[in-house]
Amino acid sequence: MCGIFGYVGTQDPLKICMTGLEQLEYRGYDSSGIAGVFEGTMVSCKKAGKLSNLKQELRKLPSKSFDLIIGHTRWATHGIVNDQNAHPHLDLRGEIAIVHNGIIENCHFLREQLRKEGVSFSSQTDTEVIVQWISKFYTGDLIAAVQKTIPLLKGIYAIAVIHKDHPHQIIAAARECPLAIGTDDQKTESYLSSDPNAFGKSGLNVLFLRDDEVAKIEKGTIEVFNTGQDLIIKKVERFESEYLAPSKEGFEHYLLKEIYEQPSTILKAIWGRFHEETAQVEFENFHLTKENLQKIQQIRILGCGTSAHAGLIAANYFEEMAKIPASCEIASEARYQTPLFTPHTLVIAISQSGETADTIAALREAKAAGCKTLGICNVKHSTLTRETDSCIYLKAGPEISVCSTKALTSQIAVLSLLALHIALCRGKDAASARAFFQELKKVPSHIQKVIDSSAELEKLALKYASFNDFFFMGRRHMYITCMEAALKLKEISYVNANGYPAGELKHGAIALINPRFPVVAFCANLQTKDKILSNLMEVKARGAPILAFAPEGMDEVANIADDVFWLPPTIDELAPFTSTVAGQFLAYFIAKIRGCDIDQPRNLAKSVTVE
Ligand code: AGP
Repeated sequence: MCGIFGYVGTQDPLKICMTGLEQLEYRGYDSSGIAGVFEGTMVSCKKAGKLSNLKQELRKLPSKSFDLIIGHTRWATHGIVNDQNAHPHLDLRGEIAIVHNGIIENCHFLREQLRKEGVSFSSQTDTEVIVQWISKFYTGDLIAAVQKTIPLLKGIYAIAVIHKDHPHQIIAAARECPLAIGTDDQKTESYLSSDPNAFGKSGLNVLFLRDDEVAKIEKGTIEVFNTGQDLIIKKVERFESEYLAPSKEGFEHYLLKEIYEQPSTILKAIWGRFHEETAQVEFENFHLTKENLQKIQQIRILGCGTSAHAGLIAANYFEEMAKIPASCEIASEARYQTPLFTPHTLVIAISQSGETADTIAALREAKAAGCKTLGICNVKHSTLTRETDSCIYLKAGPEISVCSTKALTSQIAVLSLLALHIALCRGKDAASARAFFQELKKVPSHIQKVIDSSAELEKLALKYASFNDFFFMGRRHMYITCMEAALKLKEISYVNANGYPAGELKHGAIALINPRFPVVAFCANLQTKDKILSNLMEVKARGAPILAFAPEGMDEVANIADDVFWLPPTIDELAPFTSTVAGQFLAYFIAKIRGCDIDQPRNLAKSVTVE
């Protein structure tokens, strides 16, 4: 997944583009680059590594006022991470430049076709194949050359193309990858981006390209053509997103800041969404009626990574609170299953970014099967929000760190209210609904207690940071919680950590246990207390160091575990909140001790927009 950006207008294109790329770096930070037209010449600058490396490189260029510009942040798919494979890519004559998000599946075939005609390549990327084909077809009309090239491409893409002889024109096209184009009311400037939130400006008129549409973009004007090359009228949305430059607000890392934000973000997720006097749940722009909800026969949840973990917890909520069969599927797998959809299947797609390709692809399959769809998302105007019948926003604010924290706890909070809402529509009594919400309202203060005790977790991290292998174990909601905690540790500390159902360890995995293989036990599930204590004894008997996260009052744990971090007690359903935050801190402090790149871990990106 990559981020593409383009600008043509009356402001400084390079400044606008670099601000846009800062906003897009979450989509990949293996390399970045820009290309612009300056006094009839194509100027390109690109560099492997973070955006800061490109900024250094740009300082070497004489200051230029480009006529127009395109830019790119890369997450490598074809070709290793180096300067040559960074975008933009130019044709052989250095006259045409392209930036691309997506994957061209038949790039090898297309590359060989050109190679037979004597075309040489300077990179290993699929993107360079596209620009070389455009160059082959170019006879003076840039959009015609792009329109000739697109039908050859198999796969998905969002591209922006410029030519040195067309200093006021960007050609853009998209298939399944997000591409937003914005113009101002005064028609003096045009923006394009993988994510409209990267425009860095509010009050634009925005349209989204899809299905091989091609746009000719000039200062403040856009013409869009369909695959038949007919000029079409596109739906335009007013984009009022308030652009706020991200800030760590004094924290050392965005991740730590976002962990600390959770008491307030959970409040925002639930505030005004449960009316205690009437025991009614209310979501904005929620179009599923009481009748719809009463007829639901099954709920199928789609998500990836941390969002899938939220979905697994939510599936428990829907079954326990609303008595509806519910399952959560990893979206990349769900696409290739043969789900038994019925007309009364509700499909819930969970995605913080709203751009995860696997989740969106699986959602599209569910829509094609006629299911009602609901999005759970944190980013307005993202693809997911445009493709679901309704969407419930987390209201958590931008989550900058690649490692998702506040989004998860807000997802669980929102989904618990959704389960309550469906349960109430299907006869749950108001008193028990109010009782649940009373417990949910305590979660922010419980999390604040964990934050206030985080110095203890820092000390524990010092003790466990040298280990390279961990089991995380738990039961019921704590099994899912331990998988999430293991993912945190994996992705920011590069440590082999795996979440396991505590009852499953003895069916094989326990063979790995040894004194250099600690177990982190998530014990905050009272329903299975005796069982988790037995599991602790089993791993202790085999010499594993044990760090336990346990609720105050579960004193027996202290007699078995080497270390215990005590959590504020709560009901089993809500235990994931405090246990998850403790796991977030553990991962954070271990990553810091190990000197890892905490906000932009290697090989990752904030939003995985390729399948
Ligand atoms: C979580 O820490 C990871 N960064 C990753 O698993 C993430 O949750 C996953 O890629 C899904 O992203 P989404 O919520 O934006 O769809």
